[in-house]
Amino acid sequence: MLSRFSLSKFVSLLACFATVANVSGRDTCRLTASGGDDAPQFLAAAANCGTVTIPEGTTLNISTRLNMTGMSNLKIDLEGTIFFNPDIPYWTGNAFFLPFQNQVTFWLLGGNNIELSGGGTLDGAGQAWYDAFAHNSTLLRPIILMLNEATNAVVENIRMINSPEYFNFVNECENVTYSNINLSAVSTSDNFIANTDGWDIYRSNNVTIKDSVINNGDDCVSFKPNSTNILVSNLNCNGSHGISVGSLGEFEGVFDIVQNVLAMHMANAENGARIKAFAGSGVGSGIVQNVTYQNFFVSNVDSPVVIDQCYETTTAACEEFPSNVIIQDVFFNNVFGTGSSSSVATLDCSPDARCSGINVNNLNLTGPNKEAPVYECQNVKLTGNAASLFGTCTTD
Ligand SMILES: *[C@@H]1O[C@H](CO)[C@@H](O)[C@H](O)[C@H]1NC(C)=O
Ligand SMILES: *[C@@H]1O[C@H](CO)[C@@H](O)[C@H](O)[C@H]1NC(C)=O
Ligand SMILES: *[C@@H]1O[C@H](CO)[C@@H](O)[C@H](O)[C@H]1NC(C)=O
Ligand SMILES: *[C@@H]1O[C@H](CO)[C@@H](O)[C@H](O)[C@H]1NC(C)=O
Ligand SMILES: *[C@@H]1O[C@H](CO)[C@@H](O)[C@H](O)[C@H]1NC(C)=O
Ligand SMILES: *[C@@H]1O[C@H](CO)[C@@H](O)[C@H](O)[C@H]1NC(C)=O
Ligand SMILES: *[C@@H]1O[C@H](CO)[C@@H](O)[C@H](O)[C@H]1NC(C)=O
Ligand SMILES: *[C@@H]1O[C@H](CO)[C@@H](O)[C@H](O)[C@H]1NC(C)=O
Ligand SMILES: *[C@@H]1O[C@H](CO)[C@@H](O)[C@H](O)[C@H]1NC(C)=O
Ligand SMILES: *[C@@H]1O[C@H](CO)[C@@H](O)[C@H](O)[C@H]1NC(C)=O
Repeated sequence: MLSRFSLSKFVSLLACFATVANVSGRDTCRLTASGGDDAPQFLAAAANCGTVTIPEGTTLNISTRLNMTGMSNLKIDLEGTIFFNPDIPYWTGNAFFLPFQNQVTFWLLGGNNIELSGGGTLDGAGQAWYDAFAHNSTLLRPIILMLNEATNAVVENIRMINSPEYFNFVNECENVTYSNINLSAVSTSDNFIANTDGWDIYRSNNVTIKDSVINNGDDCVSFKPNSTNILVSNLNCNGSHGISVGSLGEFEGVFDIVQNVLAMHMANAENGARIKAFAGSGVGSGIVQNVTYQNFFVSNVDSPVVIDQCYETTTAACEEFPSNVIIQDVFFNNVFGTGSSSSVATLDCSPDARCSGINVNNLNLTGPNKEAPVYECQNVKLTGNAASLFGTCTTD
């Protein structure tokens, strides 16, 4: 539909399309770089073409925000590059804002039956942002791609480089699959690639993330509130903080659910399998249920296996106000490799039986230099063939 663009504007944009088989139909449109901001022609093509091809060798320069929500049957065939121009004064105030944890993004992509694939690259031009953030810790740095209210969406065979902040955010989606994605954030200055999570999932159901390689500086995948039926499989996460549930239960009056998660095949993470939930007064509540970490290989990982149900809470406050995020039916199965210290597994629950059905099986973790591994637990009854490694848990 042309409703969001005047016809004359759209016709002038057509000059940019190398071939447009049938404008009113759902055909393939090939984009070429305009020399200026390519956001308008990309938006027009997405609204009017079944397939939008960005050919190999073409770099679209995105200098204004992309609201590509409410699409239907759209395929973006990205063979070339989409570059997000790091015009920090523009993006400050113009990037799309998500109130949850004050996130912003360059690109909202949503609707039904969407595919983004083609072997090309999304370039977040993060260096300018890493350097600016080092001097301004309140700078809001955009997420490259936010799938927003998307159903039946596939993102596959794409490279994503140098995101200013998170690479991907999955917001209020249903049935989404990411596969064969290579993510990499590298800083060429002394300034860190802060908060470059691979994926954050929020209020979404049935999300699969598989067969991908991640080099980043924060969580590889993080399950934020109301992430259900999630499969994470065959990821190689290097330099990251691992696969995290939460932190949950941060906000008073809000109930957070993380349910039916299966995460498997991880390598080279900084934390491995981690679940974190707030305790203390004036925080929220929720449930983490049926989460399985399976076939986890860790190498030089600071904390391979973690439950922290007193997250950012003092021991005294956790005793007085145990977490109201209940943790149930969690499996750590076949976790092996090396920690960076002798403390290889820490399962710390709040007092007052807030964790149940915590299973540990086939854990084979060693400290550095063959130091004897330390398995530690608190306020929890463990089951499974590795429970004896933990001995008797301390209680508060
Ligand atoms: C992208 O477009 C903006 C706005 O037209 C321009 O200022 C900038 O130089 C362009 N960047 C590149 C790499 O072409
Ligand atoms: C994006 O576009 C849709 C459809 O035109 C509109 O309803 C929505 O308000 C826009 N979203 C933002 C954040 O501007
Ligand atoms: C820091 O970033 C914030 C948020 O983007 C902005 O409002 C503020 O002006 C920036 N401060 C400086 C000193 O640039
Ligand atoms: C889920 O999405 C995939 C990919 O778009 C699609 O093939 C499949 O039919 C969808 N499943 C359902 C139940 O709609
Ligand atoms: C991702 O990297 C792997 C090797 O690490 C390579 O085989 C694959 O083709 C890459 N995929 C993309 C989309 O760049
Ligand atoms: C859930 O996701 C899987 C994998 O993409 C898909 O095959 C299935 O159809 C989805 N189910 C629903 C109910 O959307
Ligand atoms: C893993 O990350 C480190 C930096 O954290 C880097 O030096 C190394 O090359 C990365 N390894 C791979 C296989 O990408
Ligand atoms: C999560 O889902 C539950 C049940 O539908 C709802 O009550 C709660 O408000 C949701 N929480 C968030 C953070 O969306
Ligand atoms: C637990 O989660 C797994 C993985 O998502 C799923 O296959 C299984 O059906 C769930 N079990 C229950 C009882 O819901
Ligand atoms: C544990 O791992 C070590 C070193 O990787 C290996 O030699 C040993 O056989 C493993 N033990 C078990 C019980 O799997």
